[in-house]
Amino acid sequence: MKKPSSLRSAGWFSRTGKDGFIYRAWFKKQGIPHDELAGKPIIGICNTWSELTPCNSHFRELAEFVKRGILEQGGFPVEFPVMSLGETIIKPTAMLYRNQVSMDVEESIRANPLDGVVLLCGCDKTTPALVMGACSVDIPTIVLSGGAMLTGKHRGASISTSDIWRFSEANRMGKMSDNEMMLAESGMCRSDGHCAVMGTASTMACMAESLGLTLPGNAAIPAPDSARKVMAQLTGREIVRMVEANRKPSDILTRAAFENAIMVNAAVGGSTNFVIHLLAIAGRVGVPLNLQDMDTFSAGIPLIANLQPSGKYFMEDLYYAGGLPAVMRALLPRLHGDCITVNGKTVHDNYAASECYNPDVISAIDEPFNDMSGVVVLKGNLCENGAVIKPSAASPHLLEHTGKAVVFETIDDYKARIDDPDLEVDEHSVLVLKNVGLKGYPGMPEVGNMGLPPKLLEKGVTDMVRISDGRMSGTGFGTVVLHISPEAAMGGALAFVQNGDLITLNVKQRLLHLHVDEQELMRRKSTFVPIDLGYTRGYTKLFIEHVLQPDEGADFDFLKGCSGADIQRDSH
Ligand code: FES
Repeated sequence: MKKPSSLRSAGWFSRTGKDGFIYRAWFKKQGIPHDELAGKPIIGICNTWSELTPCNSHFRELAEFVKRGILEQGGFPVEFPVMSLGETIIKPTAMLYRNQVSMDVEESIRANPLDGVVLLCGCDKTTPALVMGACSVDIPTIVLSGGAMLTGKHRGASISTSDIWRFSEANRMGKMSDNEMMLAESGMCRSDGHCAVMGTASTMACMAESLGLTLPGNAAIPAPDSARKVMAQLTGREIVRMVEANRKPSDILTRAAFENAIMVNAAVGGSTNFVIHLLAIAGRVGVPLNLQDMDTFSAGIPLIANLQPSGKYFMEDLYYAGGLPAVMRALLPRLHGDCITVNGKTVHDNYAASECYNPDVISAIDEPFNDMSGVVVLKGNLCENGAVIKPSAASPHLLEHTGKAVVFETIDDYKARIDDPDLEVDEHSVLVLKNVGLKGYPGMPEVGNMGLPPKLLEKGVTDMVRISDGRMSGTGFGTVVLHISPEAAMGGALAFVQNGDLITLNVKQRLLHLHVDEQELMRRKSTFVPIDLGYTRGYTKLFIEHVLQPDEGADFDFLKGCSGADIQRDSH
């Protein structure tokens, strides 16, 4: 057991004189006996509960189970709120605020008498934002995910977020009425929890577990399952042990842990958003990781989790089939088994005995659902610093394709013209969307899998090559090239694509090429005028001025790295 005087919180509660009096007196107004503040580890529960974040709306109850575990193990729990990000609600896009939340988390942890922290994470950005913030303080930290919701139901069929894109196309073509849409939306989100497919939230839960930041088995337990509450209680116990062992994120998040996370993401068919968030987390702990690593360590890892949007099943099915432990077990020969995780055990120790209960959902590694997995990193004159595509969610016949560009200068331009029957487009065209990047939108919304023109939908076309500097929902699919860097608003080559230019996508060769000669490109570049979005103050101005491009994790330039847990000025 750690000596009380060596706890970080002793800097507040073990002090004598006026400062100690003030620190303790106001804490005691919450009905806290003196001995609770006399040497027990103080554990923060960083809560993203909000009724504006429906995926995290059950977190107050979950926090109660975490508290049980902390108390059982001899710690003292204190719950605190941070800004929450409801992916489907917040405008203009939750990604605009990920870095802001990470700053909230970092400063909240450092400024308070905390010896360890439990991060309650759920909806997409809440996981990376909390992990980034905690990594920049580096006190013992453990992640608890809120869990996915139960599979949605509509007229007897299983549905979830990936179906929104299909429903939307059917609605635009008049094949699904508004009333039918309303019936489907009422059956889709049936319980507490986040999106029920391998979208970004589930990808982030898998990322946290494969990095070693959660107890084994955390990622796939559905939110309403009683096992989720048990996991919360066990997580509460574990963080107290972590404080005793002084096991910090920097001990867990080694280069090898990041490589494990990339391999696991490939095997489960995780979201392209994984790339941006993992790079940002690596930047906080100072682990050298680059965009190319995403491709290098995905290569050769087959898709073994048969989950939407790349496959058939839902997160609930993954849990019943053995959850992420069964995936980790299958991958163990490829993983760095000696990485330490939050419970002090290695990846090998945690997962060597895990079992798969349903090979339809989690296949053996030599009988995968799809050889194409992970995130492919593209290079070429259209994306000097890279772009990404998720081949498992794309159409095989489009992975090698050359077509004429149909250009939309902004998302508003796209919305205004895509339904126009006179739009010059056919199934071989490449839809190009500009100015939906981090600085150009700003915030890089999930609009990259833009809907197809109705006149092609009517012909039965279900996919086209689409390219942009935006992102795509983890629940989305299609032959969609994303995260083009540098983005159009920074004068990247994307800004100079014109209608009719030929573009080649060749996934096998990792190529995205604009067939315009260098001289002509230079001529077009000479006329470049950056758009002025008119943000003259506030957070959005700060964001535009300091956000890094997606190939660097989209963090703020001044947030990279860790400042530690020390506070330079600490008296009243
Ligand atoms: Fe919250 Fe999908 S909207 S996880």
